[in-house]
Amino acid sequence: MMKFLYILCSLASCYAALNNKKFPADFMFGAATSSYQIEGAWNEDGKGENIWDYLLHTNRTYSLNGDNGDTTCNSYHNYKEDVALLKNLNVTHYRFSIAWARLLPNGHINEINEAGVEYYKNLISELRANNIEPFVTIYHWDLPQALQDEGGWPSSNIIDVYADYARLCFRLFGLDVKYWMTFNEPKQTCWQGYGVGTNAPGIKSPGIGEYWCAHNVLKAHAKAWHIYDEEFRPRQKGQVGIVIDSNWWEPATNSSEDQEASETKLQFTFGLYANPIFNGDYPEVMKSHIKRRSLAQGFQKSRLPEFTPKEIEYIKGTADFLGVNMYSASLVAAKQNQDVDGMGFDHDDEVKVWYSESWKKGASPWLVVTPWGMQKLLRWIKNQYNNPRMIVTENGYSDYDGTLNDDDRISYIQGYLSGVRDAMVEDGVNVFGYTVWSLLDNLEWVYGFTNKFGLYHVDFNSPNRTRTAKKSVGFYQNVIRTKCLVDECIEI
Ligand SMILES: *[C@@H]1O[C@H](CO)[C@@H](O)[C@H](O)[C@H]1NC(C)=O
Ligand SMILES: *[C@@H]1O[C@H](CO)[C@@H](O)[C@H](O)[C@H]1NC(C)=O
Ligand SMILES: *[C@@H]1O[C@H](CO)[C@@H](O)[C@H](O)[C@H]1NC(C)=O
Ligand SMILES: *[C@@H]1O[C@H](CO)[C@@H](O)[C@H](O)[C@H]1NC(C)=O
Repeated sequence: MMKFLYILCSLASCYAALNNKKFPADFMFGAATSSYQIEGAWNEDGKGENIWDYLLHTNRTYSLNGDNGDTTCNSYHNYKEDVALLKNLNVTHYRFSIAWARLLPNGHINEINEAGVEYYKNLISELRANNIEPFVTIYHWDLPQALQDEGGWPSSNIIDVYADYARLCFRLFGLDVKYWMTFNEPKQTCWQGYGVGTNAPGIKSPGIGEYWCAHNVLKAHAKAWHIYDEEFRPRQKGQVGIVIDSNWWEPATNSSEDQEASETKLQFTFGLYANPIFNGDYPEVMKSHIKRRSLAQGFQKSRLPEFTPKEIEYIKGTADFLGVNMYSASLVAAKQNQDVDGMGFDHDDEVKVWYSESWKKGASPWLVVTPWGMQKLLRWIKNQYNNPRMIVTENGYSDYDGTLNDDDRISYIQGYLSGVRDAMVEDGVNVFGYTVWSLLDNLEWVYGFTNKFGLYHVDFNSPNRTRTAKKSVGFYQNVIRTKCLVDECIEI
């Protein structure tokens, strides 16, 4: 294994030298999944319908091959096997999400599904029995359909409904869960769900519904954090954070315009969610761009809603840690044509984005192999938000065939982990863990079962969804055991 790592590195030209400093002994190495992507049992034991169930059942062309999460990895029935796989990997933590509609079939607190409560209690106690720390995402994209029918995330009614759900999670599971994440990738919920409509619920309201969604998600996040802080923290002593995703946006040239485009894009993707939470209010560049464009488009005021000073204070400081999902870098430049009519964050930013032809690609159209972007993004976050406690909550590589001989996945993870370690050692970035996406091949949303991210292969044609370790399992076990990415590490 050791020898193999070295050779792999030299063959792949190794991007940059791999970091040879040992990770700290208490650095957390984990693996991640989400409920809709792995659980299956979509209508069993009282679970309600969610927006993905509804959309993929009613529109068979929305996802590749009409794939959906009805059964997927069948983890609802196979969770003990999943925990055994985690144990075999030797991870410190497992990041999974709670399916809102499994706990509350109609989304509201008035009707609790006891079988759903049992399922998550069993999963959490199985993890605890195996000494694996549960990292629980409260919302990973699977809104109960009943709540979508009531307006979904663009409707401000949802803030209190989400807060009730979050409180229930803390009350039911909080004695055994010390790490909570309120939302996974709110940008994808709001932009893809309500802006361009490429994720459930598939609503197209770019630059309007998309920003209302963001506004309500931020308030809902803050409310959940305050509930935890006031009602649960003294007894449960856990931490509540949020997971924000971003590419690294590399300036195409060293011109000041392109460097500014990079900064602007970071603010529109990461700052939209992180700035209100860590610094207070939306980033200035978002407020000014969207207001200017909105007025020019004939609106009476900015399409970006405003927070009151009280709301700004209420949201500021509501993360005990920050989860970062990072997979790819992009090149950016200032848009020459200012696209005056365009709405949506990817028009309002006035930044042009593309991938270099020379970058290696994964199976997912948005995934390129650019490990050098990891350190740059983590360093930017450190500088923007006063070096918050951070954990990489997702990073991983997709292929089409799910090969067991997944050398490409190994070199991807190795390269990005090296970037994480560089950021820690060279920039003093406060990262306490890394979570590979994903434990299992699973339903990759609209790409169905065609994009495989698992360290374990899943045979979706076998009745019990047989899991098989890929080569990357051995690689990750080795990193976890040695805390080292190369042949021999230096302790620091
Ligand atoms: C189904 O989804 C496809 C792909 O997103 C879309 O083009 C089509 O309009 C949708 N059909 C309906 C009836 O909404
Ligand atoms: C920008 O400048 C840096 C340092 O001066 C140099 O290393 C880098 O290659 C330049 N990048 C581009 C795209 O020209
Ligand atoms: C699933 O089936 C395969 C092949 O029959 C078997 O090897 C495996 O142990 C089964 N797994 C479970 C969890 O039953
Ligand atoms: C799992 O971790 C323990 C403690 O660090 C170590 O002793 C053991 O060798 C590891 N097992 C594997 C399979 O790497």
